[in-house]
Amino acid sequence: MNEQLTIIMVQADDSLHNVIKDHIDEIEEIRLISEIGDIQTCYENMESLRPDIILIDLHRSGDVENIFAISSKISIEYPDTAIFISSTIQEPELILTALRSGAQEFFGKPLEIEEFKRAVERIVLKKQRMAQVGPPKSKVISVFSKKGGLGVTTLAVNIAGALARISKQKAAIFDLDLQLGDVTSFLDLAPQYNIVDACDSEGRVDGTKLQSCMTHHKLGISILAEPTNPADSNGISSVHIGQILDHLKSMYPYVLVDTSHSFDSKNLEVFAQSDYIFLVSVSSIPAIRATRKTLDYLRNLGYDENKIKIVVNRFNKRDKIKVEEIERILDFPVFWSIPNNYKASINAIDSGLPLIGEKRMTNVGKSIFKLARVMTNGNFSHKTKRSS
Ligand SMILES: Nc1ncnc2c1ncn2[C@@H]1O[C@H](COP(=O)(O)OP(=O)(O)O)[C@@H](O)[C@H]1O
Ligand SMILES: [Mg+2]
Repeated sequence: MNEQLTIIMVQADDSLHNVIKDHIDEIEEIRLISEIGDIQTCYENMESLRPDIILIDLHRSGDVENIFAISSKISIEYPDTAIFISSTIQEPELILTALRSGAQEFFGKPLEIEEFKRAVERIVLKKQRMAQVGPPKSKVISVFSKKGGLGVTTLAVNIAGALARISKQKAAIFDLDLQLGDVTSFLDLAPQYNIVDACDSEGRVDGTKLQSCMTHHKLGISILAEPTNPADSNGISSVHIGQILDHLKSMYPYVLVDTSHSFDSKNLEVFAQSDYIFLVSVSSIPAIRATRKTLDYLRNLGYDENKIKIVVNRFNKRDKIKVEEIERILDFPVFWSIPNNYKASINAIDSGLPLIGEKRMTNVGKSIFKLARVMTNGNFSHKTKRSS
């Protein structure tokens, strides 16, 4: 028998509870790991429970809208979890709303156990197919802003940490701020080797050598550090950069690039190879105008607009300039906004522990973690507009 899938029952009434309890042992593909009284508690415990299936019972009238809102959040943030809904009411409109909010299956009540078994088998097959497809192709994500100090390094470091935690694999950060790079300081690491050691004078980069030049952080982040002496960066060309990215892509599922604040040939090489370019801004007119100029510049260079994602950092809902106004000035959707929390951001740097690595994540950490989740679940479309 393959490994059993785990299932959680949420707000099940007595009839559903009894049917499942009576038959669960004969469905050898699944194991009931918990019964939870309400969907909100289930959502809050998803990170630790990580069930393969949640069975939500709609027996209480009145809070259906709220249940669907939360199940929709679960389906976006935890795409590996299948959502089953059961209800005595079987109106087409209700079924449609359930499916639209991310449910895979809808059961009438009393629950027909054979129908339930078939649904479980479909999930088993889906999981097996996904396992055969193998790990997804590596993704390169560059983080950029023309102006310094808006949060590029903060984002690169924390997105890398979050992706490592979610994927349970190491994520790389390439510190491309060759003059003033500070990724290893953010993580309180003293690199033994750096990019200079990986690049030879003929423009070549050896993969094995590159691997030995990476510095590792306990949260699963591997860093290619900046040169110790800024003058050494002169010997590094965009040809080196292209090769470094090729090697990193073959070694890590996610490669984050903390770029410098310029349109030099090295950054342009990285943008060309990036699956996504995160353009960081804040809600001030000068920063938004600079972002608009950057957007126009990248469009003129012919980069695919779909890979550009606008992230508004240090956002406060009480700010005078709202997300809608930023989108109007940019003529482009804002993909994500990250709350302003200077204390948390500075504490993270001072302690060398990323915001996403804290036991009790602050609002900034949570927002970045959620962003990473969306990146990993295939809902990363251009039009998706999210404010944290
Ligand atoms: N969401 C945030 N809220 C408050 N301060 C932030 C936030 N993100 C970053 N910062 C702070 O802004 C400053 C610049 O961030 P940094 O990541 O170094 O920017 P960049 O790499 O673009 O120069 C740092 O002091 C950092 O702690
Ligand atoms: Mg920086």
